[in-house]
Amino acid sequence: MSKRTILTLPGDGIGKAVLDAAIRVLEAAGFEAEYVQGDIGWEFWKHEGNPLPERTLKLIEKHKIVLFGAITSKPKDAAAEELDPALQGKGLVYSSPIVGLRQHFGLDICMRPCHTYKGNPLNFVRRGADGSMEEPKVDVVIFRQNTEGLYSGIEWSDPPQNVYDAFMSHPKFAKNFGENPKEDLSISSRIFTKKATGRILHAAFEHARKYNYKSVTVCEKPNVLRETSGMMYKMAKEMQKNEFPEIELWNTNVDAQMMWLTKNPENYGVIVAGNLFGDIISDGFAGLIGGLGFACSAQYNPDTGIGVFEPTHGSAPKYADFPVSIVNPVAMIESACMMLDYINENDKASKIRKAVAAVIAEGKVRTYDMLKMRGSADVVNKGAASTDEMADAVIAKL
Ligand code: NAI
Ligand code: MG
Repeated sequence: MSKRTILTLPGDGIGKAVLDAAIRVLEAAGFEAEYVQGDIGWEFWKHEGNPLPERTLKLIEKHKIVLFGAITSKPKDAAAEELDPALQGKGLVYSSPIVGLRQHFGLDICMRPCHTYKGNPLNFVRRGADGSMEEPKVDVVIFRQNTEGLYSGIEWSDPPQNVYDAFMSHPKFAKNFGENPKEDLSISSRIFTKKATGRILHAAFEHARKYNYKSVTVCEKPNVLRETSGMMYKMAKEMQKNEFPEIELWNTNVDAQMMWLTKNPENYGVIVAGNLFGDIISDGFAGLIGGLGFACSAQYNPDTGIGVFEPTHGSAPKYADFPVSIVNPVAMIESACMMLDYINENDKASKIRKAVAAVIAEGKVRTYDMLKMRGSADVVNKGAASTDEMADAVIAKL
């Protein structure tokens, strides 16, 4: 049988270190693949004026399964300044390649699991009724709509006249905002379509069914955002009734959910939300299980099969140039496990997860974040494991 090809996009900063570590773990687990590397990130912005070159899009199209490290994004003005002098003044405008990639390939399903590892010193603890300490077990999977909502990029400052006129035709706009001069207005729009909303809901219910979660929670704000959140909840009710009657449908408001996060996180299973709220609650839950060193994600398009698997953290530029990388590779390793699940290599995924769990439970090898140290180049001399030592420990358990 020919080997499968995986496209790797290390990107910037710590992306390469965590990706290399994850690939070593995949190999140790017996996953056989060819790795082809693609270009993405800041270097390509600076020298080519495009952080997501056309050739990379072609590679993604061809290979479909992508392991992604992290990229660096900077504000518009800083990006323009760092552009090669030869490219300046040509009207090139920076935009985030990861957001671009989601939209280009319609990677509308984003899945972010957050589960507690036993023995992780970063696990959330709360006080019980008798004053004792409890460590609730978190096992939540957030399904975040990844291409629309408030991140769809339909926004204006000083909107064009026809847009302004359309807004003015809404009585509430005219009443509450109509006195402001047009140039004082900034507007970002929140757009939900039935198609994408149905797809994210379906992915969430399917996952709950497949992995025996008893509930799906729609976490939005339908009492205020009546049209968008309201549509999502209404569609969820119909879908539950018609297709998933064995699964309970819960409904929470995103603000209350953030409060319940620390009160009863063990009660939640699958959670589904639009783009912005999904982004926020997935970071909230990640905080309960150890933070960025543990937060993994998958984003995919069920129609094309294209899937991009990445840790939710960024390029951590502060730690990028240390002689020995200190960051925690678990988020990237877990993302690689999500890739394995996606391509039906579930046995290897579960082998790796068990090995990671064993290392964490044993507690002998811990990266600086797990030891609650401040990140610096010398944490490795103070007992913290490096990125590679953490990966080695996982490999030893395999
Ligand atoms: P970040 O996630 O890169 O880092 C924030 C802090 O989290 C770090 O300083 C470090 O203390 C900690 N951290 C991150 N990854 C860690 C790991 N694996 N192990 C242990 N600790 C870890 O976010 P920040 O500093 O806000 O952004 C840095 C750059 O990354 C920016 O240019 C930003 O635009 C970009 N970014 C890219 C993302 C992506 O590629 N998907 C996502 C988020 C940010
Ligand atoms: Mg985020």
